[in-house]
Amino acid sequence: MKKINHKLHVNKIKKQGYTVIKNFLSTTELSLIKKKVKKIEKQKNTVKTGNNIWHLHNYDRIFTKIICKKEVQKILMPLLNDPFYKTINLKLPNYILGESMIIDEKGFMNLHLDSYIPSSSSKLYMANVLFLLDDRTRDNACTILVKKTHRKDSYPDRNKKNYNYLYLEGKKGDLIIYDSRIWHGRCEAKINTPNRTLVYIVQSWFIKQRFDYIHLLPNRIYTKLNNLEKQFLGFCSIPPKDNKKVISLRQGYEVLKNKKN
Ligand SMILES: [Fe+2]
Repeated sequence: MKKINHKLHVNKIKKQGYTVIKNFLSTTELSLIKKKVKKIEKQKNTVKTGNNIWHLHNYDRIFTKIICKKEVQKILMPLLNDPFYKTINLKLPNYILGESMIIDEKGFMNLHLDSYIPSSSSKLYMANVLFLLDDRTRDNACTILVKKTHRKDSYPDRNKKNYNYLYLEGKKGDLIIYDSRIWHGRCEAKINTPNRTLVYIVQSWFIKQRFDYIHLLPNRIYTKLNNLEKQFLGFCSIPPKDNKKVISLRQGYEVLKNKKN
């Protein structure tokens, strides 16, 4: 991996809604991840829909480690950190995971927003982070997007056929990050080559997680995580069960336990 110009990528995401970081993963990291994915795929309890695998971080710590890499943090923090989150050092992330999965699809997917909420605000609150495990091209169903729509205040018109797509192509090991507000989808594959992608939705702490990861994360994984990783999975911003005891929603590492209850 070459030295990353984080500011450049932050600005690209702000201005054009996406960025591509070439050769982000080393060949060793890439083969380790692929090996782990293969193993998880074969397990009986794995949550799958078709070839897609859900909630990777629930099976192996590596899937939290990879998204919590310093090099990723340096890009996501200026975009997603809450500047008023004072119970955690502001030099550390306070954003959380919304969802993690492996996507392995070949069919066309119509334009949509993963943020669900269109907004023209300059403030971003959700990002898609894609680690390419295989090469992805316009021939094997790469992500498509419509330029500049991350600042559009509306949903795509799915009946309109003549959108000018940008084909988000990349090589295995590349990292793609885009603003979840951008209108995106997938083009249909013309060839049958593997195109697996490890996808994370990462969001500001105040956005509701899509699954109850606090509940779903097995204790055997929880005990392996460091404080930063536990916070990332949402353990510092659990909605309080007792509204008399807890009044601060932005909690620090001191609430983290060694074991889950
Ligand atoms: Fe999406």
